Amino acid sequence: MNLILLGAPGAGKGTQAEVISEKLGIPQISTGNILREAVKNGTEMGVKAKGFMESGALVPDEVVIGILKDRIAEDDCKNGFILDGFPRTVPQAEALESMGVNIDKVISLEVADETIQGRLSGRRVCEKCGASYHVEFNPPKTEGVCDKCGGAAVQRKDDAPETVIERLRTYHEQTAPLVDFYGNKGRLVKVQGQDEVKDTSELVLKAVTA
Ligand code: AP5
Repeated sequence: MNLILLGAPGAGKGTQAEVISEKLGIPQISTGNILREAVKNGTEMGVKAKGFMESGALVPDEVVIGILKDRIAEDDCKNGFILDGFPRTVPQAEALESMGVNIDKVISLEVADETIQGRLSGRRVCEKCGASYHVEFNPPKTEGVCDKCGGAAVQRKDDAPETVIERLRTYHEQTAPLVDFYGNKGRLVKVQGQDEVKDTSELVLKAVTA
């Protein structure tokens, strides 16, 4: 099964992608995580992407499309995958189609902008494996330590409030049109994000397996 998780920054795409990945045994592909790893390692792609990411803008389509194409060609994707953070523009969605990828479902996580700031200011992300936590809503068992791999769970630079405002602006301008793009193709299911992670997961799993 090939799935896309759509939603604003902080809507819970990463959190829900992890849940589905575990349940269905298919990999979560986060272009954000791949780009952050490239920035951390100082690769050529990372150097190109850094400024865009830190300012809350999107990395150019051709860079991200290249990353995605290589990633879905890997062996672990042959039974399906969950795209978390891709596509983010109409040209990215069109590129996915021209790669011949059939998308079974697109889950759009609907969360109000007012809720997003609180979620992102409390978010902590594992530096090592990318697992996502929230100090209040989904804390790791030991403060600052990833449950999964023992790495350090830290705050992301782009979760600073002024960058979050810019990321939301970018989302509404460039990514929100994908709701209609996939809605018109009959692939879209809207899921209202709930206050509790587990309540959202229940709705998401229901939508995926329906
Ligand atoms: P990316 O890493 O994809 O960031 P994003 O889309 O802004 O999404 P986030 O990771 O911030 O949020 P999320 O929806 O995954 O929420 P999460 O589950 O963590 O991209 C970063 C940057 O990379 C972009 O700005 C761009 O520059 C670049 N980039 C990436 N992909 C690109 C592309 N395709 N094209 C161009 N550029 C690209 O949840 C947030 C917090 O809330 C967590 O703390 C979580 O624990 C908590 N939470 C989640 N659900 C709930 C709930 N129901 N109740 C309470 N708390 C909750």
